[in-house]
Amino acid sequence: MTDTQKTAQLSLNGETYELPVFSPSVGPDVLDIRKLYAQAGVFTYDPGFTSTASCDSTITYIDGEEGILLHRGYPIDQLAAKSHYLEVCYLLLYGELPTAAQLEDFETRVTRHTMVHEQMHNFFRGFRRDAHPMATLVGVVGAMSAFYHDSTDIADPWQREVAAIRLIAKLPTIAAMAHKYSIGQPFVYPRNDLDYAANFLHMCFSVPAEQYHVDPILSRAMDRIFTLHADHEQNASTSTVRLASSSGANPFACIAAGIACLWGPAHGGANQACLEMLKEIGSVDRIPEFIARAKDKNDPFRLMGFGHRVYKNTDPRAKVLKQSADEVLELLGVENNPLLQVAKELEQTALNDPYFIEKKLFPNVDFYSGIILEAMGFPTAMFTPIFALSRTVGWISQWKEMIGDPQNKIGRPRQLYLGETARDYVDIENR
Ligand code: CMC
Repeated sequence: MTDTQKTAQLSLNGETYELPVFSPSVGPDVLDIRKLYAQAGVFTYDPGFTSTASCDSTITYIDGEEGILLHRGYPIDQLAAKSHYLEVCYLLLYGELPTAAQLEDFETRVTRHTMVHEQMHNFFRGFRRDAHPMATLVGVVGAMSAFYHDSTDIADPWQREVAAIRLIAKLPTIAAMAHKYSIGQPFVYPRNDLDYAANFLHMCFSVPAEQYHVDPILSRAMDRIFTLHADHEQNASTSTVRLASSSGANPFACIAAGIACLWGPAHGGANQACLEMLKEIGSVDRIPEFIARAKDKNDPFRLMGFGHRVYKNTDPRAKVLKQSADEVLELLGVENNPLLQVAKELEQTALNDPYFIEKKLFPNVDFYSGIILEAMGFPTAMFTPIFALSRTVGWISQWKEMIGDPQNKIGRPRQLYLGETARDYVDIENR
């Protein structure tokens, strides 16, 4: 954050107030209103934070107009093409790409933490089999503070580090267990000889009765999905993690809060909702009907997987995933998959429609990810847990950054109160 000596003036009730202006390393300037209430006695009003920076950060940068996403300065398309998920995790957590030795050490530390406490197996059995895996995930990740209370002291940097590694390592195991539990199959233990993505596929799809071979093209596609979801600056779930942690709550509780927020269909739940929508549309001839519904102000239906608060041109993650969808479906011999045909035609129709052009609505990351995941054999209910396990590194990196910041304060927004003014209590017989 550079103090440019620039200021903005606010005139209010005959007084002028100077507001400092900060210049970021890239992106629009930011007005510093921290002293506004103390000096002028007013609040700012910005529901949905459309114009508000809630923190400073060095992790991720998004230029929504240009469709740019950078992690620690590196463009997401380069990371998706040349890097892999655990290397991106290292980059997000520690700020630089690792050397070969650092990467090996990091991968070893993550791999050694992939098993969960054996008693967690019993904990799972308290859930109904038909529970949504996101419901199970929120509960089990929240319960990690009961199983790993030797890494909940946020004042201890070593415990913070252990908690970060545990979360990154165990989320795939827990997500896979939620899947296995919901389909009535035995839990599958992680395998340390497999890489992160291949191990996740193994835990989801292998059964004790036979050998399971992880196809390297599928594990590469899985890894790319993890990479593309790894972080996205101050989105709703990340802001939830930061707000929860601002009170000093332990990391497992904070990540559980992030998972709960992610579940909503406007956020991470959109990948499941999008695939369900594509199935409901069913064939290309029904597309006009759904486009009309999405444009109808009196119909709550929205085109799932379309639109973004920040991206107003293109979502760079969606571009990579569209290509990945073609590759994976071809590998699986289902390139004529009707859902992919509907998705491609829907995308073209929407992109040429004045409503979507005017409102700058483009396919987002959730538009193509579901098609890939379904082709791989995941049930739709697993889509959002996969998003959650991928995003855990982003949440924990932002959490670490925040805890390490000496300016860290409890988050406490104010409000525009429009309710009753003070009035006297009325006894029940007089109401
Ligand atoms: N279909 C039809 N109309 C839409 C859509 C859509 N998907 N998205 C936005 N609009 C319209 C909206 O009705 C509004 O119209 P008007 O100006 O006439 O009132 C205008 O576009 C602006 O929308 P908004 O809701 O004010 O924009 P927002 O920034 O608050 O919401 C969003 C962003 C992602 C929640 C929204 O676009 C949406 O609901 N999309 C569908 C759900 C989805 O795909 N979510 C995944 C987001 S990316 C991954 C993630 O974050 O997890």
